Amino acid sequence: MAMTVNAAVSLPSSKSPSLSFKNSIAIPERINFNKSILYPRNVSFGGNVISIRAQVTTEAPAKAEKISKKDDEGIVVNKFKPKEPYVGKCLLNTKITADDAPGETWHMVFSTEGEVPYREGQSIGVIADGLDKNGKPNKLRLYSIASSALGDFGNSQTVSLCVKRLVYTNEQGEIVKGVCSNFLCDLKPGADVKITGPVGKEMLMPKDPNATIIMLATGTGIAPFRSFLWKMFFEKYDDYKFNGLAWLFLGVPTSSSLLYPEEFEKMKEKAPNNFRVDYAISREQSNDKGEKMYIQTRMAQYAEELWELLKKDNTYVYMCGLKGMEKGIDDIMTSLAARDGIDWLEYKRQLKKSEQWNVEVY
Ligand SMILES: Cc1cc2nc3c(=O)[nH]c(=O)nc-3n(C[C@H](O)[C@H](O)[C@H](O)COP(=O)(O)OP(=O)(O)OC[C@H]3O[C@@H](n4cnc5c(N)ncnc54)[C@H](O)[C@@H]3O)c2cc1C
Ligand SMILES: NC(=O)c1ccc[n+]([C@@H]2O[C@H](COP(=O)([O-])OP(=O)(O)OC[C@H]3O[C@@H](n4cnc5c(N)ncnc54)[C@H](OP(=O)(O)O)[C@@H]3O)[C@@H](O)[C@H]2O)c1
Repeated sequence: MAMTVNAAVSLPSSKSPSLSFKNSIAIPERINFNKSILYPRNVSFGGNVISIRAQVTTEAPAKAEKISKKDDEGIVVNKFKPKEPYVGKCLLNTKITADDAPGETWHMVFSTEGEVPYREGQSIGVIADGLDKNGKPNKLRLYSIASSALGDFGNSQTVSLCVKRLVYTNEQGEIVKGVCSNFLCDLKPGADVKITGPVGKEMLMPKDPNATIIMLATGTGIAPFRSFLWKMFFEKYDDYKFNGLAWLFLGVPTSSSLLYPEEFEKMKEKAPNNFRVDYAISREQSNDKGEKMYIQTRMAQYAEELWELLKKDNTYVYMCGLKGMEKGIDDIMTSLAARDGIDWLEYKRQLKKSEQWNVEVY
């Protein structure tokens, strides 16, 4: 059972009116959730920290039978379908990338009145208002949920997204705006939003509170991991207290496009032995060879450590974001595994089977 957080807050964008809440708290344009207000002061984090290196083995482990994360009757899928979507309201919509970032990413919160009961790692569908080019209602687009199941206001009554505004120039030289991402990034507090789902079981969190969870995100692929990390470090539950290692790798183009860095700093302060974060800022950083710092380039700097962690039976890897990242990560894993005479693709198959290698890229 979750302890609900007892401060109801509103997080209005400075430019737009918000719906009214009890205890309204203003935040600046660049998002800055104030955890000391959102969370009870007597919450204890960390505690009996395990030494993760002590559990490392040198051989590929025989995979033990585990309780599947998908094997839980409480997980709801497809409660709302496109023909009868849930209609929520936008409560907050804030640009979280700086003005000089290449592209815009927005964080938004929708009301659900508890009617869209999602889990960390699931997605929802959104149907943008209006008609498509054939005069038919717009089709739904999927978005990874960026809030924990309790939601950003801690009352299980909201769902949040992290959305990149898609704008590109087509072959004719025309500027094209993506239908749903622009609809979402332009939503004003108070506006209706049609929601379907929730969907997806691939990215559900492992049940083991002592697990090592390695999260690999590019851009808005951070969404499910923000959801995981809020549950691990900002919330208190009677039946879940994270005491393993959460290690986040996040790849973005520039430091001005880093997503939720203030939250991750806060997590490091709260649980320095349980949380690590490493950024790969592709257009500002490079490695010793002068190569562009992609997420896999950053991971390569911790190659030995990552490989040792991957041999543990309770290490879970999650990957989310750009499709292109998967190959880059496979390439470094292949070379690491080869040092131990292990065929990576076969090893990955085993990891997938035991739900230790989880990928949602697009
Ligand atoms: C499981 C899942 C989770 C997702 N989660 C998120 C999320 O959390 N946040 C997020 O922002 N997105 C997420 N997405 C992507 C999201 O679903 C949409 O695809 C995205 O927002 C674009 O939708 P749109 O309606 O704005 O664009 P559309 O109007 O659908 O246009 C997209 C189309 O434009 C074309 N196009 C795009 N870029 C270019 C280009 N550079 N040159 C030429 N043509 C191009 C392609 O044909 C593409 O299919 C997720 C996708 C999936 C499958
Ligand atoms: N559940 C899901 O499936 C899910 C959830 C959320 C988002 N997404 C998808 O994830 C993508 C995120 O895009 P974004 O626009 O938010 O990201 P972004 O801000 O453009 O950041 C992406 C980062 O990844 C880098 N990159 C580019 N190619 C790469 C490669 N082959 N390997 C590793 N890194 C690479 C980029 O570097 P450069 O630009 O400098 O090359 C940049 O630093 C979108 O396509 C979105 O649809 C999927």
